[in-house]
Amino acid sequence: MPAVTTPLNPSRPQPQSLHHANHHSAPEHAQDPTPRLVVANGAHAALRPEFIQQYHENSDALRAEIVAGLLRSQAGISPKFFYDVLGSRLFEAITDLPEYYPTRTEASIFASVAPAIAARAGSGCVLIDLGAGNCEKAARLFPSLQPAQYVALDISVDFLRGTLSGLQQQHPHIPMLGLGTDLCGPLDLPPNVRRGRRLLFYPGSSIGNFTPIDALALLQRLRAVTGHGDGVLIGVDLYKDADTLVAAYDDALGVTAAFNRNVLRNVNRILGSDFALEDWRHVASFDQQASRIQMHLEAERAVTVRWPDGERNFAKGERIHTEDSHKYRPEDFAILLESAGFTDPVSWTDPRGWFAVFHARG
Ligand code: AVI
Repeated sequence: MPAVTTPLNPSRPQPQSLHHANHHSAPEHAQDPTPRLVVANGAHAALRPEFIQQYHENSDALRAEIVAGLLRSQAGISPKFFYDVLGSRLFEAITDLPEYYPTRTEASIFASVAPAIAARAGSGCVLIDLGAGNCEKAARLFPSLQPAQYVALDISVDFLRGTLSGLQQQHPHIPMLGLGTDLCGPLDLPPNVRRGRRLLFYPGSSIGNFTPIDALALLQRLRAVTGHGDGVLIGVDLYKDADTLVAAYDDALGVTAAFNRNVLRNVNRILGSDFALEDWRHVASFDQQASRIQMHLEAERAVTVRWPDGERNFAKGERIHTEDSHKYRPEDFAILLESAGFTDPVSWTDPRGWFAVFHARG
């Protein structure tokens, strides 16, 4: 049984702050006018979720963001560029790997404590899933939470459209709204999000992909859209031994390596660059002091990468930073929640203490 950790001490020191910001310009708005109930040939009715696309990958701002990252002395590509359709599928495959424990561990916690979560959060809420992916985690909570509406946000717009349509068929009684959006900017919830108690759901330890400073800023943005009676439910990967962590991010089958190198395909597509994937190898390491896994792509030989109006030379062994995945101690994450203005944090963890699910009130 997962252990319940008590509401946590707010007087502990702030988590260490880190250096790199992860912003881009505000998204445009485009609304998909698809009606929710579509009658095909009068023969049968197919329910379709509403969908609003706020994130457009084909923008000059995104290309400028990629170029700025490639030209920094320590080159970097934001992890948000992992998630084209293939990248999202590769991430799904990662979650099935024996070495990648977070998804399974979190699912076991949810399975055990769903009633306790529903008791705290209350059923019949508007469930807002901030990193929906394949929507599986939220769907498992539907029976206990019985949401009045399910709002699924994801940057991988096409992937989300596909998964949400499938989910809507399985749960025709739950109104669903897809939002193709990016959490790096202001959280812009459209009026299509119903009124009522909100539960903001951010599973999978995606919060770990932000620096602690950016995670705090994100939590403050979430706090800004929660009021009395609302809450957040967040999955957080915890600090543990380096061997377990490195194996989870450098699996024997090479799926995480493929996921990491796929970012170059996606950048080539968006930017028109000429990265050759065979020139780059996946590297994952654990920075004990910063308590984070770091992923890089390392040049196997000296290469010049070109794109319209620009280029960069990389020496053999030079690296492009692609992702940090922060591992928290439970007490530090509770402090982060309280620093953002949430109250009464409670967490549940697995018997090994590898992962935690937090609930806090708005
Ligand atoms: C999405 N995110 C929480 C994953 C993580 O564990 O940081 C992304 C990932 N990168 C490599 N493997 C999984």
